Amino acid sequence: MSRPVKIAPSVLPADFARLGEECVALEEAGVDRIHWDVMDGVFVPNLTFGPDVIASIRPHVDVPFEAHLMVAEPDQLLHRYVEAGCNILLVHAEACTHLHRTLAHIAELGATPGVALNPHTPADVITHVRDLLGIVLVMTVNPGFGGQAYISSMEPKVAAVSALLEGFDCDIEVDGGIGPDTVAGVTSAGANVFVSGSALYRDPEGLEHAVTDLRHRAEAARS
Ligand code: DX5
Ligand code: ZN
Repeated sequence: MSRPVKIAPSVLPADFARLGEECVALEEAGVDRIHWDVMDGVFVPNLTFGPDVIASIRPHVDVPFEAHLMVAEPDQLLHRYVEAGCNILLVHAEACTHLHRTLAHIAELGATPGVALNPHTPADVITHVRDLLGIVLVMTVNPGFGGQAYISSMEPKVAAVSALLEGFDCDIEVDGGIGPDTVAGVTSAGANVFVSGSALYRDPEGLEHAVTDLRHRAEAARS
């Protein structure tokens, strides 16, 4: 059974002076959830959203929130992002000494556990935690910034993750440089959830067109 296509916009390109309105606009544009790129300036050379920023937006939209935790010490922060209203927590395998314990802790907190894999990290890192995972996020850029070039050599890795997840109830999400020109290749490799930031915001026909077009292109690539 193929898992449904989902669009998860990154809010990094949004106008932070109007972040609440921007999230309402994303919901109205038909996204399936909102992808918060949390950066601590240590794991990646950039700083973004603390839990209080996300908590301030939570009451204004209904779609689920996922926190992409690009942080060096995720275990210290998990409960804060769940309390802020995140339904999904994505931790980086590279930041977790005890990944199995961290994923189990996310589930205990009531959120969906996900693991993110940097471009250099092999797919088989997930082998012994597959039963704990709701999402595997394959990075198609090196994390830290929006607007970077898609790394097409990650497509065989998406296929490898898909093969490892055969028989497991787990989404395959991709993140970085995803847009109209790249979504087909990564969909054919097995992805069903698409994080997109700059490609959505640069669509001259607006967010709703961008979201609908990306969804249709992914669905067409599956048929
Ligand atoms: C990068 C983030 C991505 C990025 C996506 O570290 O994890 O979510 O913001 O933005 P685009 O779609 O512009 O590559
Ligand atoms: Zn991200």
